[in-house]
Amino acid sequence: MVSPLDVGFVRSHFPALASDWAIMENAGGTLVPRQVIERLHSYLSFNQIQPGAEFPISAQAAERIAESERLMAAMIGAEPGEVLIGPSTTMNVFLLSHAIRPWLKPGDEVIVTNLDHEANNGAWRRLAEVGVVVREWSFNLDTAALEAHDLRALLTDRTRLVCFTQCSNVVGTIHDVAGLTHIAHDAGALVCVDAVAYAPHRHLDVKALGVDFYLTSLYKIYGPHLGMLYGRRDLLRKADRLNHFFTDDDVPLRLHPGGVNHELTASLSGVTAYFDALHDRHFGPTNLPLHDRLGQVFGLIADHEETLCRPLLEFLGGHPRVRLNGSRDPDQRARVPTVTFTVKDRKADEIPTALLPHRIGIRAGDFYARRAIDTWNLGPQGGVVRASIVHYNTVEEVNRLVAALDRVI
Ligand SMILES: Cc1ncc(COP(=O)(O)O)c(C=O)c1O
Repeated sequence: MVSPLDVGFVRSHFPALASDWAIMENAGGTLVPRQVIERLHSYLSFNQIQPGAEFPISAQAAERIAESERLMAAMIGAEPGEVLIGPSTTMNVFLLSHAIRPWLKPGDEVIVTNLDHEANNGAWRRLAEVGVVVREWSFNLDTAALEAHDLRALLTDRTRLVCFTQCSNVVGTIHDVAGLTHIAHDAGALVCVDAVAYAPHRHLDVKALGVDFYLTSLYKIYGPHLGMLYGRRDLLRKADRLNHFFTDDDVPLRLHPGGVNHELTASLSGVTAYFDALHDRHFGPTNLPLHDRLGQVFGLIADHEETLCRPLLEFLGGHPRVRLNGSRDPDQRARVPTVTFTVKDRKADEIPTALLPHRIGIRAGDFYARRAIDTWNLGPQGGVVRASIVHYNTVEEVNRLVAALDRVI
């Protein structure tokens, strides 16, 4: 086994990393490895036709799409009949909320948070229009985390659904999804977990978590601009059919008006091909199933990310003018390396601008977690500054970021 993560090998897969810019706005969307780019190019070159007819290029098009769907499901520990690949997480939640709306009666309760991205918020809050009572689970202001006892206090015998985040895109602290899901299930409620900000960093296993619905955005996991919704098969079968009355009544098509984007979906097999290249480089070829191979790869990724996160947290956590959000502990079980902060008497967007001459790409704003930003009353300051690191970042880049921040703050 080769350890630690061979970052030079990692970076050689990403054409966009050839420049000397340190890209640390990865929570907004990650760069794409050549395995994805090649598949997109080849699908458009040879298979861009209506898939599923008998002649070869059409039959092959259908197979390329189906293979990607199988691989994406396997990546999160699910079966193909349990995932739906749609244009984005926002759109997938919108579809899901419509599909399960008939299950909810006036007076039933849905819990949402003030920490979540609006994708796992707005569509659920709109259920108030049909008489559903929406309750807000507020994060703890000291820890910037969602606490189990606050959830318990909100659950009633009318709670049908609890929507929360595995880790916020403006905090990075990891929640105990399995534990929180258990609490919700004990009260008879389902859960819908936003894993969008968590998924680029850690091995995903929906069955181990026991979740009912689980959201990831594939363009933040080194893929093209798509989102993936996992749902327990019995639930997705029971949900209201959203497609035409005559289309295939199985998942995903029954919930998917218009079907998938062909070329982007076909390119998704490049995501797992990329992870497999990392696997073979570090562990050699094995007979392990894909999900287990990914577990090994993400073990190395998590170790490397922890190494990257430590100096940044140390610098920000010890700076007298900085307020750091979320866990100060770089431990990979505590947080992902999505680090946000504010600087006393400075507008948030001044900091990314000041870093441009250092050829460092970070960003400021509310990142669509508007309710969290408003809860902190950070709107007038322009939200938070975010440096979001992934495994293709280097120790040198983080040192450069820390040195540059030291000069500009
Ligand atoms: C935590 C989180 N959830 C949901 C979303 C929405 O994802 P999408 O752009 O796929 O709708 C984002 C996007 O930034 C996010 O960071």
